[in-house]
Amino acid sequence: MEPGSKNFSRERQSDIYIGGVSGKKPAVPVSFDQLKQAAKKKLSKEAFAYVAGGAGRESTISRNRCGFQRWSIVPRMLRGVSDLDTSISLFGHSYPVPFLLAPIGALDLFHPDADEEVAQSAAAAGVPMIFSSQASVPMEQCAEVMGASPRWFQLYWSTSNELVESFVRRAEKCGCQAIVLTLDTTMLGWRTRDLDLAYLPFLHARGIAQYTSDPVFKKLMDEYKDKDPERDRSITFSTIRSLFLMARYYPGSTLKNLFSEEPIRAVRTFIRTYSRPSLTWEDLSFLRDLTDLPVLLKGILHPEDARKVIEYNMDGIIVSNHGGRQVDGAISAIEALPAVVDEVDGTVPVLFDSGIRSGSDMFKALALGAEAVLLGRPYVYGLTLAGRQGVSEVIRNFRADLELNMGLSGINSVSNINRKYLQYSQLHN
Ligand code: FNR
Repeated sequence: MEPGSKNFSRERQSDIYIGGVSGKKPAVPVSFDQLKQAAKKKLSKEAFAYVAGGAGRESTISRNRCGFQRWSIVPRMLRGVSDLDTSISLFGHSYPVPFLLAPIGALDLFHPDADEEVAQSAAAAGVPMIFSSQASVPMEQCAEVMGASPRWFQLYWSTSNELVESFVRRAEKCGCQAIVLTLDTTMLGWRTRDLDLAYLPFLHARGIAQYTSDPVFKKLMDEYKDKDPERDRSITFSTIRSLFLMARYYPGSTLKNLFSEEPIRAVRTFIRTYSRPSLTWEDLSFLRDLTDLPVLLKGILHPEDARKVIEYNMDGIIVSNHGGRQVDGAISAIEALPAVVDEVDGTVPVLFDSGIRSGSDMFKALALGAEAVLLGRPYVYGLTLAGRQGVSEVIRNFRADLELNMGLSGINSVSNINRKYLQYSQLHN
Protein backbone atom coordinates (compact mmCIF):
# COMPACT_ATOMS: atom_id res chain seq x y z
CA MET A 1 0.00 0.00 0.00
CA GLU A 2 1.44 3.31 -1.06
CA PRO A 3 1.55 6.23 1.42
CA GLY A 4 -0.33 8.34 -1.18
CA SER A 5 -3.00 5.72 -2.01
CA LYS A 6 -6.53 7.03 -2.56
CA ASN A 7 -8.16 3.72 -1.80
CA PHE A 8 -6.25 2.92 1.29
CA SER A 9 -9.14 1.91 3.52
CA ARG A 10 -10.63 -0.55 1.09
CA GLU A 11 -7.20 -2.11 0.46
CA ARG A 12 -6.66 -2.43 4.20
CA GLN A 13 -10.05 -4.04 4.71
CA SER A 14 -9.44 -6.46 1.83
CA ASP A 15 -6.02 -7.38 3.21
CA ILE A 16 -7.57 -8.32 6.51
CA TYR A 17 -10.65 -10.11 5.20
CA ILE A 18 -8.82 -11.98 2.43
CA GLY A 19 -6.11 -12.93 4.94
CA GLY A 20 -8.89 -14.34 7.10
CA VAL A 21 -9.92 -16.75 4.32
CA SER A 22 -6.53 -18.45 4.71
CA GLY A 23 -6.72 -18.27 8.49
CA LYS A 24 -4.55 -15.18 8.96
CA LYS A 25 -5.45 -12.67 11.65
CA PRO A 26 -4.14 -9.10 12.07
CA ALA A 27 -0.87 -8.97 14.06
CA VAL A 28 -2.47 -6.74 16.69
CA PRO A 29 -6.10 -6.25 17.73
CA VAL A 30 -7.88 -3.58 15.72
CA SER A 31 -10.08 -2.25 18.52
CA PHE A 32 -8.33 0.01 21.01
CA ASP A 33 -9.71 -1.70 24.10
CA GLN A 34 -8.49 -5.11 23.00
CA LEU A 35 -5.16 -3.67 21.90
CA LYS A 36 -4.67 -2.21 25.36
CA GLN A 37 -5.75 -5.38 27.16
CA ALA A 38 -3.46 -7.55 25.04
CA ALA A 39 -0.52 -5.19 25.71
CA LYS A 40 -1.28 -5.22 29.43
CA LYS A 41 -0.90 -9.00 29.49
CA LYS A 42 2.57 -8.71 27.97
CA LEU A 43 3.97 -5.81 29.98
CA SER A 44 5.53 -5.65 33.43
CA LYS A 45 3.26 -3.90 35.92
CA GLU A 46 5.66 -0.94 35.98
CA ALA A 47 5.63 -0.52 32.20
CA PHE A 48 1.86 -0.83 31.97
CA ALA A 49 1.34 1.66 34.79
CA TYR A 50 3.71 4.07 33.10
CA VAL A 51 1.86 4.07 29.79
CA ALA A 52 -1.73 3.63 30.88
CA GLY A 53 -1.68 5.75 34.01
CA GLY A 54 -2.51 9.38 34.52
CA ALA A 55 -2.45 12.00 37.22
CA GLY A 56 -4.40 11.71 40.47
CA ARG A 57 -7.68 9.84 40.13
CA GLU A 58 -7.25 9.82 36.35
CA SER A 59 -10.43 11.82 35.84
CA THR A 60 -8.86 13.70 32.92
CA ILE A 61 -8.17 10.43 31.11
CA SER A 62 -11.92 9.67 31.38
CA ARG A 63 -12.83 13.23 30.39
CA ASN A 64 -10.68 12.95 27.28
CA ARG A 65 -12.95 10.07 26.29
CA CYS A 66 -16.35 11.48 27.23
CA GLY A 67 -15.42 14.77 25.58
CA PHE A 68 -15.44 12.91 22.26
CA GLN A 69 -18.75 11.21 22.98
CA ARG A 70 -20.47 14.56 23.27
CA TRP A 71 -19.83 15.20 19.58
CA SER A 72 -21.68 13.14 16.99
CA ILE A 73 -20.88 12.91 13.30
CA VAL A 74 -23.82 13.67 11.01
CA PRO A 75 -23.00 11.90 7.69
CA ARG A 76 -24.16 13.22 4.31
CA MET A 77 -25.16 11.01 1.38
CA LEU A 78 -24.68 10.72 -2.41
CA ARG A 79 -21.58 12.84 -2.65
CA GLY A 80 -19.41 10.74 -5.02
CA VAL A 81 -16.60 9.66 -2.75
CA SER A 82 -14.64 7.04 -4.67
CA ASP A 83 -11.33 8.94 -4.39
CA LEU A 84 -10.44 9.83 -0.84
CA ASP A 85 -7.59 12.16 -0.08
CA THR A 86 -6.24 12.11 3.46
CA SER A 87 -3.15 14.19 2.71
CA ILE A 88 -2.42 17.49 4.40
CA SER A 89 0.18 20.18 4.21
CA LEU A 90 1.86 21.72 7.26
CA PHE A 91 4.65 24.31 7.30
CA GLY A 92 5.24 23.75 3.59
CA HIS A 93 5.54 19.95 3.85
CA SER A 94 2.93 17.55 2.65
CA TYR A 95 2.07 14.46 4.63
CA PRO A 96 -0.05 11.49 3.51
CA VAL A 97 -2.31 11.49 6.57
CA PRO A 98 -3.47 14.14 9.04
CA PHE A 99 -1.74 12.50 12.01
CA LEU A 100 1.72 12.31 13.54
CA LEU A 101 3.16 9.96 16.13
CA ALA A 102 3.18 11.76 19.49
CA PRO A 103 6.45 12.06 21.37
CA ILE A 104 6.54 9.22 23.89
CA GLY A 105 9.45 8.69 26.23
CA ALA A 106 11.05 5.52 27.63
CA LEU A 107 9.86 3.33 24.75
CA ASP A 108 12.38 0.65 25.70
CA LEU A 109 9.89 -0.32 28.42
CA PHE A 110 7.75 -1.64 25.58
CA HIS A 111 10.23 -3.06 23.08
CA PRO A 112 14.01 -3.55 23.23
CA ASP A 113 14.53 -1.60 19.98
CA ALA A 114 12.19 1.12 21.22
CA ASP A 115 12.20 4.36 19.17
CA GLU A 116 14.16 2.78 16.34
CA GLU A 117 11.37 0.29 15.77
CA VAL A 118 8.77 3.07 15.74
CA ALA A 119 10.96 5.13 13.38
CA GLN A 120 10.97 2.26 10.86
CA SER A 121 7.18 2.01 10.88
CA ALA A 122 6.67 5.77 10.71
CA ALA A 123 9.06 5.96 7.76
CA ALA A 124 7.36 3.09 5.90
CA ALA A 125 4.02 4.93 6.18
CA GLY A 126 5.43 8.43 5.58
CA VAL A 127 3.90 9.51 8.90
CA PRO A 128 5.99 12.05 10.84
CA MET A 129 7.44 10.74 14.08
CA ILE A 130 8.00 13.29 16.84
CA PHE A 131 11.22 12.27 18.57
CA SER A 132 10.89 12.65 22.33
CA SER A 133 13.40 14.42 24.55
CA GLN A 134 12.97 11.33 26.74
CA ALA A 135 13.67 8.83 23.97
CA SER A 136 15.46 5.55 24.61
CA VAL A 137 17.39 5.84 21.34
CA PRO A 138 19.31 8.97 20.26
CA MET A 139 17.58 11.01 17.57
CA GLU A 140 20.47 10.54 15.12
CA GLN A 141 20.05 6.76 15.21
CA CYS A 142 16.33 7.05 14.49
CA ALA A 143 16.87 9.61 11.73
CA GLU A 144 19.33 7.26 10.07
CA VAL A 145 16.80 4.46 9.70
CA MET A 146 14.13 6.88 8.47
CA GLY A 147 15.86 8.04 5.29
CA ALA A 148 14.12 11.11 3.91
CA SER A 149 10.81 10.52 5.66
CA PRO A 150 9.53 13.24 7.98
CA ARG A 151 10.34 13.71 11.67
CA TRP A 152 9.96 16.43 14.25
CA PHE A 153 11.65 16.91 17.60
CA GLN A 154 9.98 17.44 20.98
CA LEU A 155 11.88 19.51 23.49
CA TYR A 156 11.72 19.67 27.26
CA TRP A 157 13.34 22.93 28.27
CA SER A 158 16.22 22.03 30.55
CA THR A 159 17.79 24.16 33.27
CA SER A 160 20.74 24.56 30.90
CA ASN A 161 20.15 26.75 27.85
CA GLU A 162 23.35 25.33 26.43
CA LEU A 163 21.74 21.89 26.51
CA VAL A 164 18.57 23.28 24.92
CA GLU A 165 20.68 24.70 22.14
CA SER A 166 22.54 21.46 21.66
CA PHE A 167 19.27 19.47 21.36
CA VAL A 168 17.89 21.94 18.84
CA ARG A 169 21.05 21.89 16.75
CA ARG A 170 21.06 18.11 16.74
CA ALA A 171 17.40 18.08 15.70
CA GLU A 172 18.17 20.46 12.85
CA LYS A 173 21.12 18.35 11.74
CA CYS A 174 19.13 15.18 11.65
CA GLY A 175 16.46 16.66 9.45
CA CYS A 176 13.64 17.43 11.87
CA GLN A 177 11.04 19.66 10.22
CA ALA A 178 9.69 21.30 13.38
CA ILE A 179 10.33 21.68 17.09
CA VAL A 180 7.57 20.87 19.57
CA LEU A 181 8.13 22.53 22.91
CA THR A 182 6.14 20.74 25.59
CA LEU A 183 4.94 23.24 28.19
CA ASP A 184 2.84 21.14 30.51
CA THR A 185 5.53 19.04 32.13
CA THR A 186 7.78 21.51 33.92
CA MET A 187 7.21 19.08 36.78
CA LEU A 188 5.84 15.56 36.74
CA GLY A 189 2.14 15.22 37.52
CA TRP A 190 1.02 13.28 40.61
CA ARG A 191 0.97 9.92 38.87
CA THR A 192 -0.64 7.61 41.36
CA ARG A 193 0.07 4.30 39.64
CA ASP A 194 3.77 5.07 39.26
CA LEU A 195 3.93 6.36 42.84
CA ASP A 196 2.33 3.18 44.18
CA LEU A 197 4.99 1.13 42.40
CA ALA A 198 7.70 3.69 43.30
CA TYR A 199 8.83 3.52 39.69
CA LEU A 200 10.10 6.22 37.37
CA PRO A 201 11.98 4.92 34.31
CA PHE A 202 14.48 7.78 34.11
CA LEU A 203 15.93 6.91 37.52
CA HIS A 204 16.78 3.51 36.08
CA ALA A 205 18.66 5.13 33.18
CA ARG A 206 15.77 4.43 30.78
CA GLY A 207 14.50 7.19 28.49
CA ILE A 208 17.55 9.41 28.83
CA ALA A 209 19.34 8.54 25.58
CA GLN A 210 19.07 12.07 24.11
CA TYR A 211 20.97 13.26 27.17
CA THR A 212 23.64 10.55 27.46
CA SER A 213 24.43 10.98 23.75
CA ASP A 214 24.80 14.76 24.07
CA PRO A 215 28.20 16.51 24.31
CA VAL A 216 26.84 19.35 26.48
CA PHE A 217 25.17 16.89 28.84
CA LYS A 218 28.45 14.97 29.17
CA LYS A 219 30.16 18.22 30.09
CA LEU A 220 27.47 18.89 32.71
CA MET A 221 28.05 15.40 34.11
CA ASP A 222 31.69 16.33 34.67
CA GLU A 223 30.82 19.67 36.21
CA TYR A 224 28.47 18.07 38.72
CA LYS A 225 30.94 15.29 39.50
CA ASP A 226 31.95 16.45 42.96
CA LYS A 227 28.74 18.25 43.84
CA ASP A 228 26.62 15.21 44.60
CA PRO A 229 27.12 13.98 48.15
CA GLU A 230 26.63 10.26 48.49
CA ARG A 231 23.17 9.84 50.06
CA ASP A 232 22.69 7.36 52.88
CA ARG A 233 21.31 4.37 51.14
CA SER A 234 20.84 0.94 52.58
CA ILE A 235 22.04 -1.71 50.17
CA THR A 236 19.27 -4.22 49.55
CA PHE A 237 18.70 -6.83 46.90
CA SER A 238 16.58 -4.26 45.05
CA THR A 239 19.40 -1.70 45.07
CA ILE A 240 21.75 -4.23 43.49
CA ARG A 241 19.14 -5.21 40.95
CA SER A 242 18.51 -1.54 40.07
CA LEU A 243 22.22 -0.86 39.70
CA PHE A 244 22.56 -3.87 37.43
CA LEU A 245 19.62 -2.74 35.27
CA MET A 246 20.98 0.79 35.16
CA ALA A 247 24.33 -0.58 33.92
CA ARG A 248 22.44 -2.58 31.32
CA TYR A 249 20.42 0.33 29.95
CA TYR A 250 23.24 2.86 30.02
CA PRO A 251 25.12 3.11 26.69
CA GLY A 252 28.24 0.91 26.40
CA SER A 253 29.14 -2.46 27.84
CA THR A 254 27.08 -3.59 30.84
CA LEU A 255 30.17 -5.03 32.50
CA LYS A 256 32.11 -1.79 32.19
CA ASN A 257 29.09 0.21 33.39
CA LEU A 258 28.76 -2.02 36.45
CA PHE A 259 32.14 -0.87 37.68
CA SER A 260 31.67 2.73 36.61
CA GLU A 261 29.99 5.65 38.35
CA GLU A 262 28.84 7.02 35.02
CA PRO A 263 25.28 5.63 34.90
CA ILE A 264 24.47 7.01 38.36
CA ARG A 265 26.10 10.32 37.54
CA ALA A 266 24.10 10.56 34.33
CA VAL A 267 20.85 9.93 36.21
CA ARG A 268 21.76 12.55 38.82
CA THR A 269 22.71 15.08 36.16
CA PHE A 270 19.47 14.34 34.38
CA ILE A 271 17.47 14.99 37.57
CA ARG A 272 19.25 18.33 38.02
CA THR A 273 18.84 19.50 34.44
CA TYR A 274 15.78 17.90 32.88
CA SER A 275 13.23 20.63 33.43
CA ARG A 276 12.86 24.27 34.33
CA PRO A 277 9.70 25.09 36.30
CA SER A 278 10.64 28.79 36.29
CA LEU A 279 10.09 29.01 32.51
CA THR A 280 7.93 31.97 31.35
CA TRP A 281 6.70 33.34 28.03
CA GLU A 282 9.66 35.73 27.98
CA ASP A 283 12.10 32.80 27.77
CA LEU A 284 10.67 31.80 24.40
CA SER A 285 12.67 34.49 22.58
CA PHE A 286 15.79 32.39 23.23
CA LEU A 287 14.31 29.51 21.27
CA ARG A 288 12.89 31.84 18.62
CA ASP A 289 16.34 33.30 18.00
CA LEU A 290 17.94 29.87 18.03
CA THR A 291 16.21 28.27 15.08
CA ASP A 292 14.38 28.94 11.85
CA LEU A 293 12.40 25.74 12.22
CA PRO A 294 8.72 26.15 13.04
CA VAL A 295 8.17 25.97 16.80
CA LEU A 296 4.88 24.55 18.12
CA LEU A 297 3.80 24.80 21.74
CA LYS A 298 2.30 21.59 23.13
CA GLY A 299 -0.02 21.69 26.12
CA ILE A 300 -2.14 24.75 25.30
CA LEU A 301 -5.70 24.53 26.69
CA HIS A 302 -6.74 28.15 27.37
CA PRO A 303 -7.66 30.57 24.55
CA GLU A 304 -5.63 33.34 26.22
CA ASP A 305 -2.54 31.15 26.07
CA ALA A 306 -3.36 30.46 22.44
CA ARG A 307 -3.31 34.21 21.83
CA LYS A 308 0.09 34.45 23.51
CA VAL A 309 1.49 31.81 21.16
CA ILE A 310 0.93 34.32 18.38
CA GLU A 311 2.13 37.31 20.41
CA TYR A 312 5.38 35.51 21.17
CA ASN A 313 6.00 34.64 17.54
CA MET A 314 5.56 30.93 17.80
CA ASP A 315 4.40 28.96 14.78
CA GLY A 316 1.81 26.51 15.97
CA ILE A 317 -0.26 25.10 18.81
CA ILE A 318 -0.84 21.59 20.04
CA VAL A 319 -3.95 21.48 22.18
CA SER A 320 -3.15 18.77 24.70
CA ASN A 321 -3.45 17.76 28.33
CA HIS A 322 -0.62 15.24 27.98
CA GLY A 323 -3.06 12.36 27.89
CA GLY A 324 -4.35 13.19 31.37
CA ARG A 325 -0.94 12.61 32.93
CA GLN A 326 -0.40 16.06 34.37
CA VAL A 327 -3.37 17.91 35.92
CA ASP A 328 -6.10 15.64 37.23
CA GLY A 329 -9.45 17.28 36.64
CA ALA A 330 -8.12 19.37 33.76
CA ILE A 331 -10.44 20.15 30.88
CA SER A 332 -10.46 17.48 28.18
CA ALA A 333 -8.41 18.42 25.16
CA ILE A 334 -11.38 18.03 22.81
CA GLU A 335 -13.48 20.41 24.96
CA ALA A 336 -10.64 22.94 24.85
CA LEU A 337 -10.10 22.72 21.09
CA PRO A 338 -12.94 24.87 19.61
CA ALA A 339 -12.16 27.96 21.72
CA VAL A 340 -8.46 27.76 20.86
CA VAL A 341 -9.23 27.38 17.15
CA ASP A 342 -11.62 30.34 17.28
CA GLU A 343 -9.12 32.47 19.15
CA VAL A 344 -6.26 32.03 16.67
CA ASP A 345 -8.63 32.18 13.70
CA GLY A 346 -6.21 30.59 11.22
CA THR A 347 -3.16 32.69 12.16
CA VAL A 348 -1.20 29.56 13.15
CA PRO A 349 -2.05 25.90 12.71
CA VAL A 350 -3.70 24.18 15.66
CA LEU A 351 -2.99 20.48 16.17
CA PHE A 352 -4.82 18.19 18.56
CA ASP A 353 -3.54 15.60 21.02
CA SER A 354 -4.96 13.55 23.92
CA GLY A 355 -7.54 10.84 23.71
CA ILE A 356 -7.49 9.77 20.07
CA ARG A 357 -8.64 6.14 20.01
CA SER A 358 -10.17 5.73 16.56
CA GLY A 359 -10.52 7.24 13.11
CA SER A 360 -13.79 8.79 14.16
CA ASP A 361 -12.02 10.63 17.02
CA MET A 362 -9.57 11.95 14.45
CA PHE A 363 -12.46 13.04 12.25
CA LYS A 364 -14.07 14.95 15.15
CA ALA A 365 -10.86 16.78 16.09
CA LEU A 366 -10.29 17.73 12.44
CA ALA A 367 -13.91 18.87 12.15
CA LEU A 368 -13.43 21.10 15.19
CA GLY A 369 -10.58 22.84 13.41
CA ALA A 370 -7.41 20.86 14.11
CA GLU A 371 -5.10 20.67 11.09
CA ALA A 372 -3.69 17.36 12.29
CA VAL A 373 -3.76 15.15 15.38
CA LEU A 374 -1.22 13.22 17.41
CA LEU A 375 -1.55 9.50 17.97
CA GLY A 376 -0.14 8.43 21.33
CA ARG A 377 -0.84 5.40 23.51
CA PRO A 378 -2.34 3.22 20.72
CA TYR A 379 0.98 2.96 18.87
CA VAL A 380 2.80 2.12 22.12
CA TYR A 381 0.46 -0.85 22.58
CA GLY A 382 1.13 -1.89 18.97
CA LEU A 383 4.87 -1.64 19.63
CA THR A 384 4.50 -3.79 22.73
CA LEU A 385 2.66 -6.56 20.94
CA ALA A 386 4.46 -6.81 17.62
CA GLY A 387 7.29 -4.28 17.36
CA ARG A 388 7.49 -2.42 14.09
CA GLN A 389 4.77 -4.56 12.51
CA GLY A 390 2.50 -3.72 15.41
CA VAL A 391 3.11 0.02 15.03
CA SER A 392 2.62 -0.26 11.25
CA GLU A 393 -0.69 -2.01 11.70
CA VAL A 394 -1.89 0.58 14.20
CA ILE A 395 -0.96 3.35 11.76
CA ARG A 396 -2.74 1.59 8.90
CA ASN A 397 -5.82 0.88 10.96
CA PHE A 398 -6.19 4.50 12.06
CA ARG A 399 -5.67 5.69 8.53
CA ALA A 400 -8.23 3.28 7.12
CA ASP A 401 -10.73 4.05 9.87
CA LEU A 402 -10.41 7.81 9.32
CA GLU A 403 -10.66 7.46 5.56
CA LEU A 404 -13.81 5.34 5.81
CA ASN A 405 -15.41 7.82 8.19
CA MET A 406 -14.67 10.55 5.68
CA GLY A 407 -16.07 8.64 2.73
CA LEU A 408 -19.13 7.40 4.60
CA SER A 409 -19.83 10.96 5.76
CA GLY A 410 -19.70 12.24 2.18
CA ILE A 411 -16.29 13.95 2.36
CA ASN A 412 -13.49 13.24 -0.08
CA SER A 413 -10.70 15.35 1.33
CA VAL A 414 -9.42 16.31 4.79
CA SER A 415 -9.67 19.98 3.96
CA ASN A 416 -13.45 19.58 3.60
CA ILE A 417 -14.01 18.19 7.08
CA ASN A 418 -15.62 20.92 9.17
CA ARG A 419 -17.94 21.65 12.08
CA LYS A 420 -21.03 21.34 9.92
CA TYR A 421 -20.58 17.57 10.09
CA LEU A 422 -20.80 17.53 13.88
CA GLN A 423 -23.58 17.89 16.37
CA TYR A 424 -23.04 18.57 20.05
CA SER A 425 -25.14 16.84 22.62
CA GLN A 426 -25.20 16.62 26.40
CA LEU A 427 -26.57 13.09 26.27
CA HIS A 428 -23.38 11.22 27.18
CA ASN A 429 -21.70 11.98 30.46
C1 FNR B 1 3.88 10.72 26.93
N1 FNR B 1 3.81 12.02 26.46
C2 FNR B 1 4.95 12.74 26.25
N2 FNR B 1 4.88 14.01 25.74
C3 FNR B 1 5.99 14.71 25.48
O1 FNR B 1 5.90 15.85 25.04
N3 FNR B 1 7.22 14.14 25.69
C4 FNR B 1 7.36 12.88 26.19
O2 FNR B 1 8.48 12.39 26.35
C5 FNR B 1 6.20 12.17 26.51
N4 FNR B 1 6.28 10.90 27.02
C6 FNR B 1 5.14 10.16 27.22
C7 FNR B 1 5.23 8.86 27.69
C8 FNR B 1 4.09 8.08 27.79
C9 FNR B 1 4.21 6.66 28.24
C10 FNR B 1 2.83 8.62 27.46
C11 FNR B 1 1.58 7.79 27.51
C12 FNR B 1 2.74 9.93 27.04
C13 FNR B 1 2.51 12.60 26.10
C14 FNR B 1 2.17 12.29 24.64
O3 FNR B 1 2.98 13.00 23.78
C15 FNR B 1 0.72 12.64 24.34
O4 FNR B 1 0.49 13.95 24.74
C16 FNR B 1 -0.26 11.70 25.05
O5 FNR B 1 0.13 10.38 24.88
C17 FNR B 1 -1.66 11.92 24.50
O6 FNR B 1 -2.57 11.12 25.14
P1 FNR B 1 -3.15 9.78 24.47
O7 FNR B 1 -3.87 10.18 23.23
O8 FNR B 1 -1.98 8.90 24.19
O9 FNR B 1 -4.04 9.22 25.53
